[in-house]
Order: sequence, then structure tokens, then C-alpha cells
Amino acid sequence: MREFDEKSITQAVIERLAACQDPRFARVMTSLVTHLHDFVREVNLTESEWFTAIQFLTEVGQACTDKRQEFILLSDTLGVSVLVITLNHPAHSGSVESTVQGPFYWEGAPELPRGSNLAEGVKGEPAFYSGRVLSTDGRPLPNALLDIWSGDGEGNYDMQIPGETGMKARGRIRTDSEGCYWFRSIRPTFYPVPTDGPVGQMLRKMARHPYRPGHVHMIVSAPGHLSATTHLFVAGSQYLDSDAVFGMKESLVAEFKRHPPGPGPDGEPLDTPFYTVSYDFRLRPAGAAAPDKREQGAGS
Ligand SMILES: [Fe+2]
Repeated sequence: MREFDEKSITQAVIERLAACQDPRFARVMTSLVTHLHDFVREVNLTESEWFTAIQFLTEVGQACTDKRQEFILLSDTLGVSVLVITLNHPAHSGSVESTVQGPFYWEGAPELPRGSNLAEGVKGEPAFYSGRVLSTDGRPLPNALLDIWSGDGEGNYDMQIPGETGMKARGRIRTDSEGCYWFRSIRPTFYPVPTDGPVGQMLRKMARHPYRPGHVHMIVSAPGHLSATTHLFVAGSQYLDSDAVFGMKESLVAEFKRHPPGPGPDGEPLDTPFYTVSYDFRLRPAGAAAPDKREQGAGS
């Protein structure tokens, strides 16, 4: 057949994959074409809407720089990122739950001694973080690495602050021989995802707010274990119920205990109130088979 109507076009495109040598790629593309065509038929897409979509995706690409990833933001705000993460890191795996990496990760944060202040000169109320990194069987993991980053106490990441060129509120901390970690930073607050680009326009058109509840990001890794990209959410923070990127997980909500001015956990006197927070991260051994939700009959 050389000519196609609004139905036969779908099969025609799929058949052009016949010589594809990569079965997984062929499966993904077949499904993508099927759903994309179904979507176009379902909404009866107009030419101007199609062109608007092309223009939008073009602008999303043009908004990306080495410090800004508008495509990740698009994926995050449409719930695709957390859907992929949830499929690949089921909550019942025994590991700390994973959530979105977000657009503000900056590879290569300095490795600092335990107890360091990651937020020297950063706005915000001091917070002292501590806990352990454990294997799923409860064994402490020495030499585990926490790659930590957050916004400041006003919700701004270093790369968003005009004139700020260096890393702020970022660092990598290793656990000691008992699997313990501790460091100082600030208590993060809620903040809007960037709204000055095409994704912001999309959110406004959808009548959605752009806010994420207060959280600190971590990538936790240890030898012989699967790493986890996760957050600690500040208990009681605004927007825990309506995270703009759908990344909130109850198991990641941590209590930030408020203390009056006085000696901090490291003995150093503080002239402002401060917070302490404790959280243990569990990681799954790399060789362990992932528990299958369907086999356990836990529902879909
Ligand atoms: Fe964040």
C-alpha cells in the first residue's frame, strides 16, 4: 500500500520497523507510535495545535543550558519522571524510596569531612543532619557516600542566584566505620520550580501552582549496593500535599526538631534557633533480585 488513511497510517509506520535489529527499541517505538497516533485521533488535533506543540518543544530545547534542563522539568511536571522512578524502584524493595533528581543536580560537589557545614554563607536556619546508611539486612555500610544538595532557606538553588558562580549548599559526605554520617546545612523551604520558561507557561495555562515542599536532595551510594536518588522532605512544609513534580513520598518525610539558641550538636554555640534531623537510609545489595509486586499479589 502506498497511500494511507487516518487509521491505516499507524500500522504503516509500525511496519517500517520490520528491519530494526534492536527488539527493545522496536517495541518501545511501536508503542510510542501507537499511543501518539491514538492521542492525535482522540483529541482530533488541529494543525495549529500541532504547530503550537512543535514550537513548545523547540522552546523547551532552547531553554536548556549546561545549568538548566527544561526537558527534565517538563518530564517532572507531567509526572513522567516519578512514574519511571516508581516502576524501576518499587517502594517495597527494602531500599530507601527513590524520587526525582530534579533539574538542579551539579556533578562534582566537593567531598567534605563528616560534620562539615555545607551551607557556609547560605541564607537559612541551621540544620544538623545525622543518621546511618544500612544494607537492607540492617548491616551498617561504612564508606557510603551521600551526595547532597538543596536550595537555601529562601528556596533558591545556587545556580539560580544572579552573580553566584560557585557551588552552595552542596557537598559529598562519607559514612564512618559504623555507617554513620553527620553534617550541617540549612532547613530547606518550599520553592517554585522555574516558571520563566516554556514549562512555566504550560503550568500557568493548566492553572497549576509551581511549588515543591521543602526538601534536601541526596544520592546515596555504597560499595556493592544499588544507589538511590532521593530526598528528605521537611515535615509540616507547605505543599507536601501537592508537590508540583509529584515526587513526595511519605517514607521520606523527616521531622526537623527546633532548638533554641545555644550549643549545637557539635558543641559550637549558635545565636539563632536551629534544627536537628535524623534519618537512616537503607540500600539494596546490587546482586539481590528486585521483589516483583505482581508476583506478591500486592495489586497494581
Ligand atoms: Fe529540589
